[in-house]
Amino acid sequence: KTYILNITIVGTGYVGLVTGTTLAELGNSVYCVDIDEKKVEGMKNGVVPIYEPNLEEMFLRNIQAERLFFTTNLKEALDKSEVIYLALPTPPGEDGSADLSYVIKVANDIGEMMTEYKVVVNKSTVPVGTADKVREVISSKTQIPFDVVSNPEFLREGFAVEDSMNPARVVVGASSEKAQDIMAKIYQPFTNTGIPIIFMDEKSSELTKYAANSFLAVKITFMNEIANYCEKVGADVDKVRLGMGSDDRIGQRFLFPGIGYGGSCFPKDVKALIKSGKQEDFNFQILEATENVNIAQKVILVSEIEKYFGGNIEGKTIAFWGLAFKANTDDIREASSLDNIALLLEKGAKIVAYDAVAESNVQKLLGDKIQYAKNMYEALENADALFIATEWSEFKNPNFELMAQKMNGKVIFDGRNIYPLEIPEQNGFYYKSIGRKTILN
Ligand code: UDX
Repeated sequence: KTYILNITIVGTGYVGLVTGTTLAELGNSVYCVDIDEKKVEGMKNGVVPIYEPNLEEMFLRNIQAERLFFTTNLKEALDKSEVIYLALPTPPGEDGSADLSYVIKVANDIGEMMTEYKVVVNKSTVPVGTADKVREVISSKTQIPFDVVSNPEFLREGFAVEDSMNPARVVVGASSEKAQDIMAKIYQPFTNTGIPIIFMDEKSSELTKYAANSFLAVKITFMNEIANYCEKVGADVDKVRLGMGSDDRIGQRFLFPGIGYGGSCFPKDVKALIKSGKQEDFNFQILEATENVNIAQKVILVSEIEKYFGGNIEGKTIAFWGLAFKANTDDIREASSLDNIALLLEKGAKIVAYDAVAESNVQKLLGDKIQYAKNMYEALENADALFIATEWSEFKNPNFELMAQKMNGKVIFDGRNIYPLEIPEQNGFYYKSIGRKTILN
């Protein structure tokens, strides 16, 4: 078999798995390494450990084509590969800074095991200066030449396959020409179709990832503040958003107000950049404000719910549609649903939740603190109000008659603005969304 390159991916979490599958799809032979034996065994048998639209098909196709392999043995994979991608977790430590111990540990192993030139590629989101650290660790173990490259990942959950096969750009931080050439070769299928590859130094590349994610978090948060202000003055944020977004310096995307940003990236990266700033005696004032606004925004509807019920929600049953931090994922990390559920429980409400994909993850976390429904209508049985926490498609065109039959009160709090105002209005529902007029039925 002829491959473009032999590549090892260390870590088969979200980024590692998607990156590995994509690189195999681009024609490379890819070894995915993980210490979790059960997971590796599963993947060898075609089991994809995460939920992501269209991933399974691509994953199975590349296993079949003998371009995608799995092992727990780093040395075995390393010996066969010229390029090693690190896609390891960098969880926030107690102080919010990224914990690099997994990255450092594997860098150590690579230094000890390598027998010829390697390019080590940092794919995980890591603080500025990490490429230098990895370089130091490896060179403390070996005399053999190698390069360390930063190549951040910009994919969105739910669109991982789409984003990874058709990225807006590829950013590569590499100071050595040899490493640049190898990276250019890997991404040639992209550059052939006009996707830009932007070369820079490692530090700028590392910062690009944080800057991009933080900017988007700021953009969303700015819109959330505009939405809150719209309510004060009787403006409609949908109209404001269209009017603003039509200026292509602003753009229509990531201007949707709601109950805050969550997920595994924005909250973590905003925190980490603030923290990195502090280490240099630098205050990211915009990011600090963004973080605080977002914390309040996540639960902004709770006081509205209390207000609606005259200040006391003890014993009220609130149905939740959606638990995932956004649609098309089972991920509940930093999900706004969880903040709302916790606060509503604290205030004595009962929760019945429905999310076809993320429910089992919430069940693991919250157990029988809340009830779970088998479908979206069952969740409404005797509910005093409905809370929409995730914009899943199945909620977008519901049977309002059936909803009214099931519910105690025809009341909707929509944290994702999924209905045009006339829809709940015509169906006789009280409807409170974000940054728009309240429908007082
Ligand atoms: C994000 C980045 O988009 C991606 O480039 C990066 O690699 C990882 O982080 P992801 O966390 O998967 O991806 O989700 P994204 O679609 O960006 O949404 C993040 C959060 O912002 C979600 O909670 C979403 O509901 C919220 N959001 C997004 C809004 O509230 N309004 C918007 O207009 C867009």
